[in-house]
Amino acid sequence: MDAALTAGLECPILGVGFMDKDHRDMATATTRLLAVIAVDGDVTAVNEAFVDLVSLTLTHFDREERSMVKNAYPEYGPHRTEHARLIEQISFIADRIKAENNCGLSEDFTHFLHDWLIDHIENYDKSYAHYLREVGAAALPP
Ligand SMILES: [Fe+2]
Ligand SMILES: [Fe+2]
Repeated sequence: MDAALTAGLECPILGVGFMDKDHRDMATATTRLLAVIAVDGDVTAVNEAFVDLVSLTLTHFDREERSMVKNAYPEYGPHRTEHARLIEQISFIADRIKAENNCGLSEDFTHFLHDWLIDHIENYDKSYAHYLREVGAAALPP
């Protein structure tokens, strides 16, 4: 596996406390998952790491969506749809690992996982963080 993938994910910093903290936790969980896959591909360990990532992701998306509603974010709909799509993707993979009792994780997949979080932050979260700063709500709790 590409060593750069397991060296640790670097999330873009958005300047919104709760988002940056959650993203850091998700990046840590993703890095751990990639490391477990790289080391031995042990199904139980991969599964546990996946459960952690999915759980952090669900909590974070919910927090972000509640914040968007509270702050009347005009792009809430598309952003929420994208969250749903990401949850579907990650849940599908987690289910497949469980059902097949086999990691079956290709190089493509590890790249996908690496980009999964970063791309969303770049393409969606950055705009929301910008909006929060504009309306002066970046420092407020979600
Ligand atoms: Fe988001
Ligand atoms: Fe986010």
